Amino acid sequence: METGIRADALAPGSPLPAVRALATELGVSPATVARAYQELRQRGLVVTAGRHGTRVRPRPPVAGRRAALHPPPAPGTRDLSQGYPDPRLLPPLGPHLAALAAEIGPPVGYASTALLPAFAEAARDRLAADGVPAEEITVTGGALDGIERLLAAHLRPGDAVAVEDPGWANLLDLVAALGLRPIGVPVDDDGPTEAGVRDAVALGARALVVTSRAQNPTGAAVSAERAGALRALLAGRPDLLLIEDDHAAELARVPLHPLAGATPAWAFVRSVSKPFGPDLRLAVLAGDEATVSRVAGRARVGAGWVSTVLQRLVLSLWRDPATAELVRRSGEEYERRRTGLLAALAARGLAGRGRSGINIWLPVPDETSVVTALRDAGWSVAPGALYRIGAEPGIRITVSALDDADLVPVADAVARALRPARPGRFTA
Ligand SMILES: Cc1ncc(COP(=O)(O)O)c(C=O)c1O
Repeated sequence: METGIRADALAPGSPLPAVRALATELGVSPATVARAYQELRQRGLVVTAGRHGTRVRPRPPVAGRRAALHPPPAPGTRDLSQGYPDPRLLPPLGPHLAALAAEIGPPVGYASTALLPAFAEAARDRLAADGVPAEEITVTGGALDGIERLLAAHLRPGDAVAVEDPGWANLLDLVAALGLRPIGVPVDDDGPTEAGVRDAVALGARALVVTSRAQNPTGAAVSAERAGALRALLAGRPDLLLIEDDHAAELARVPLHPLAGATPAWAFVRSVSKPFGPDLRLAVLAGDEATVSRVAGRARVGAGWVSTVLQRLVLSLWRDPATAELVRRSGEEYERRRTGLLAALAARGLAGRGRSGINIWLPVPDETSVVTALRDAGWSVAPGALYRIGAEPGIRITVSALDDADLVPVADAVARALRPARPGRFTA
């Protein structure tokens, strides 16, 4: 199976043969095939979903030789499925690279690498301004790299981790690849629900991952009230690692209400991907002293550090008032597109969700039929199955690529896709 995935014979999402059929074909016992499937599942290569059988995960941790990192949308469709920021709204890097070229000085060796003091100071200031205690920080290769290091340092394969449901598909793939067990926590517009977090803790979750704002896929943002309730619920729990993912960061148009510090072991990860560009591959990670030390220490014996060239580049972006203004306007623009689409859907009687960020979530009774009908109408959207554990079905529509003129056609297409099929007229 692994060879099949590597050679692209088994594409992401493709079904594996039924256990009995494969056992007969290979001349082995069904128990042997079942064990092999279990191992593939534990390594995060496949997922078993009830009556849908066992399938290759959307992003198995084995790279196909020809498969692109990000597969293209269906041919001939506009892509509203990817959850990427709009490249037209990202700050240009050229002027900052040029300025860096002028000031960077001679090449540095291993001895001169570290968290740059000026970068660290700016990162601390930015976090402290949002109420995140940031005495201890380190830097990682993006939010997910930080989350991976945190989970690997604190948990062991088989441990349970509480994740939002629906929640970010890439996190679900990472949790599977680490051999961890996800426990779904329902999310409403104010973030993970109190009851959901309580249940997950009671079920033995060793870590909880919360998206601060622009939750993917629902757009939820942790409100002041929810933050207070969750802080009280988690207060002092020594056995739970609390991870916050503030991936929208400066792009978010809602205030941050952090949980940071509610538990003895905590980390707050802020990526630069959404406001400043995913290709920068950088996130700042704040936390308690022991947690930050584990992440930084483990990085030191592995990848080493995040290039000081990148740290300088991000610092240059942070310090530039024109870039700050551009990020502010980008945030406004995403909000306009999001609220515009939600209003167009509401006008057609459809209640979507999307308090913040670049996606909206629309509950639908049957994901496959809606995704297929929209594809036939020229729009690629993401089926909710990628993001769900036990949550109700839905679709995710990314608004990044939408222009004003698209809102009505998209809303019309969604409304048509959801209309129950009329029985065909009988003709003799
Ligand atoms: C919830 C969430 N976290 C983090 C990220 C970005 O992470 P990274 O910093 O690894 O690019 C995304 C991107 O879509 C996301 O949706």
